Amino acid sequence: MNSLRRPLIAGNWKMYLDLASSVSLAKSVAAGLPADAPEVMVATPFTALAVVGEALKGTKVKLAAQDCYWEKEGAFTGQVSAFQLKDAGCQGVLIGHSERRQFFGETDETVKKKLTAALENGLLPIVCVGETLAEREDGRTFKVLETQLTGALSGFGPSQLATLVIAYEPVWAIGTGKTATPAQAQEAHLFIRKTCQRLHGDGFAAGLRILYGGSVKPDNVDSLMSEPDLDGALVGGASLKADSFLRIVKFSAAVAK
Ligand code: PGA
Repeated sequence: MNSLRRPLIAGNWKMYLDLASSVSLAKSVAAGLPADAPEVMVATPFTALAVVGEALKGTKVKLAAQDCYWEKEGAFTGQVSAFQLKDAGCQGVLIGHSERRQFFGETDETVKKKLTAALENGLLPIVCVGETLAEREDGRTFKVLETQLTGALSGFGPSQLATLVIAYEPVWAIGTGKTATPAQAQEAHLFIRKTCQRLHGDGFAAGLRILYGGSVKPDNVDSLMSEPDLDGALVGGASLKADSFLRIVKFSAAVAK
């Protein structure tokens, strides 16, 4: 981490938990936050947004959704718009998670449309990028990241993207227990920052928060967060239990490098 950028730890609950467990997890996370906590956010399933939002009222934990649709309203059965998420009390939204790219046809073009809608509705967007194992083994990691980033971020001005957060999530590390090493993560984060610098300038790149995601756990978060270009974590499995998520929130990073 770098003291210029406020760390963000976001939990991605994916398609887990019933309403009662969602509320109880949200309350335990909020109750366990230390006074000097980083920014903390939980991305719940759509059905849990209202009750978790209610449970988090008056706390420092922010509410996010895991996806959104770009149109404000209309005959789009099954979709939920960024406008509706804002109305439901969301402050943030995940966009382009690799599971959406892999299983639900998300493309760089739809990521861009969703990003536009999130920004227009005042939601903090967390845009996810990352390479598959085959792409890494082929030496195409940087190319993939560059394509995903330019696809999503070109055409905006840096001031429009002021709240943007990027999550680097190598697909091979998600839910597999195979975390990227701190050095592998740092290399990718630095590449992402440099690409964003080329797209939107020095000031934008210096302030951009880049989260790492992919098997972040209590026992690896400290070394990951000690890397200078890691500004937080997007946590799946380990965000489903209050004690492991809170330990991640309380990461300790060796900042001087
Ligand atoms: P994981 O998931 O922590 O379970 O690997 C991360 C994510 O998919 O955001």
